[in-house]
Amino acid sequence: MTLKLRTNSDWSASTPMLPAQGPRRLALYRSLRGLIESGQMMPGDKLPTTRDIAKRFGVSRGAAVAAYEMLVADGFAEARVGAGTYVAEAVPLVQAAPAVSPAIMEQEARAPLPGALGCSTADETSLRIFRMLMNRHLAKPSLRHFHYNDPAGSLALRVEVAAYLKAARGVVCEPDQVIMTAGTQQGLDLAVRALLKPGDPVWLEDPCYAAARELFEGTGLSVTAVPVDGEGIDVAAGVAAQPDAKAVYVTPSHQYPLGVTLSMARRLALIDWARQAGAYILEDDYDSEFRFAGPPLSALQGMGGEGQVIYLGTFSKTLLPGFRIGYLVVPRHLRERMLTIRRLTDRFPSTLAEDALTEFLRDGHFSAHIKRARKRVKAARDALVEALHEGPFAVSTPEQGLHLVAELPPGTDDVSLAKRAKETGFGAKALSPLYLGVPARRGLVIGFSGFPPEVMADGARRFLSSLG
Ligand SMILES: Cc1ncc(COP(=O)(O)O)c(C=O)c1O
Repeated sequence: MTLKLRTNSDWSASTPMLPAQGPRRLALYRSLRGLIESGQMMPGDKLPTTRDIAKRFGVSRGAAVAAYEMLVADGFAEARVGAGTYVAEAVPLVQAAPAVSPAIMEQEARAPLPGALGCSTADETSLRIFRMLMNRHLAKPSLRHFHYNDPAGSLALRVEVAAYLKAARGVVCEPDQVIMTAGTQQGLDLAVRALLKPGDPVWLEDPCYAAARELFEGTGLSVTAVPVDGEGIDVAAGVAAQPDAKAVYVTPSHQYPLGVTLSMARRLALIDWARQAGAYILEDDYDSEFRFAGPPLSALQGMGGEGQVIYLGTFSKTLLPGFRIGYLVVPRHLRERMLTIRRLTDRFPSTLAEDALTEFLRDGHFSAHIKRARKRVKAARDALVEALHEGPFAVSTPEQGLHLVAELPPGTDDVSLAKRAKETGFGAKALSPLYLGVPARRGLVIGFSGFPPEVMADGARRFLSSLG
């Protein structure tokens, strides 16, 4: 039965469900009061009879009468003798909470799937240490937390990050060149704003990390797609296509998505070109900590590229994306420009999180964490590769990183396949949409972090069995 409950505006579509627990009269009172306060029932609107409202909400008539009495007593409604009950004329309106669309609610509720990219595992030991560090800082908070701070981030943390990058990645820098960020994405945004203007020519790797591509294209830069082969970005092809580019975005230690390492010859050629062209190299070193065999090549930044390279790193992969902490290493002449932009966008990083992270690094917890994470991820990688070998893919075992590409014959519809994978609960992503031009290869990009080996393997097998 549809009740037309009101005289003026119609709130019947948004009739709230009463909570299952608790006295009915109170639940009905709160519900009606909410409708009045949010403006869905307006001053002067006639309330339905207690008989109607009781039916509508599935409560007893007595509960409806009691709820109306409470509304009247609290000034939300007026009883007019012989005419019924009306919303009071002078009710303070509060802004109704914006409706959350079903799509957003669904997205919020969606659990990450094995095979998806960008997942990290909760490490109990590290979480316990962080909890302790955060508690310690909250128990005796530094005065710094009560003031506005350095847009570059805390000096103590920058000292730790610079030391780590020198030792682990061969980055040549001092703490004053380090700018803490809210992750790589903010670092890229700062670099783009500081160095480039709409229309400027830039090179992007083809295929490319979608979030970088969207940023570059969205900023109105003129993008040249430079092919990636077995040695990484083809510098000669870039020079031939657009010698005057002002910047290039690269992932030299582990190309995203193909996973190749930029060869030494290409590294030198890239730095050489950048110096001659006066171009900047945006070096995204997002997952270099996860190296499973052999020593890593050091960062481009430390290979003579200090003047040209903006180095970007993140704790999203090593710790967890929800931390939103990353860093930039910038040539000194760019520092002030970058910091001005940082100050004008989000002012400065979270000092509380920074203090905890500083101690996590200083006391050796970070290197212990990486060792544990690497071991865990390696086991998941092996289980995934073994399972995928049962399918129609060409898969090799990656020596670095947190994802692999399971390649498919040219012309395969990898987009439909990725959709099928998701339907079976496996979070693989199609390779071909990551190309800027005509896709040279087809396949699935599959992450192996964030889930134990058996869950990875089960996910992959479930998907493979759906292929028949
Ligand atoms: C290529 C690449 N760079 C950087 C990141 C990390 O981004 P952020 O630090 O903004 O979380 C990712 C995460 O998926 C990535 O794939």
